[in-house]
Amino acid sequence: MRLLPRGRVPLGAADGLERGERVSLRLDGIPVSAYAGESVAAVMIAERGAATRRTAGGERRGVFCGMGVCFDCLVVVDGVPNTRACMTLVAEGMVVDSQSGSSAAR
Ligand code: FES
Repeated sequence: MRLLPRGRVPLGAADGLERGERVSLRLDGIPVSAYAGESVAAVMIAERGAATRRTAGGERRGVFCGMGVCFDCLVVVDGVPNTRACMTLVAEGMVVDSQSGSSAAR
C-alpha cells in the first residue's frame, strides 16, 4: 500500500482506488453522487457528517458499529423507514432521507 502525504485522501485510480460506477441519488432532497458498492452510511458521512437521524427527543444519532448491529444509523430509503444506512448499498435513483424519531413519526 502506498503512503500518501499527510492530509491527502486517495480519490481516484491514480491513487490505487478502484470505484464502482457513478450513481446519482437524493439525500434529504439534495442530489448527490456516489459510487456503486458504497454504503448509504459512507455517502452520508462524506456529504454531511456522521448523523443519520434524530431520536424522538431530538438527539443526533449516526454510524456507531458500522456492521448492522446497533441500529443507530437508521434512515428512510425509498420511503422505507428503519433502514440501516451501514448495511444498504447505494443505487441509481435512490432517495434517502434522515429519520426523525420512530418509524411512525416519519
Ligand atoms: S451503524 Fe450500527 S447498525 Fe448501522
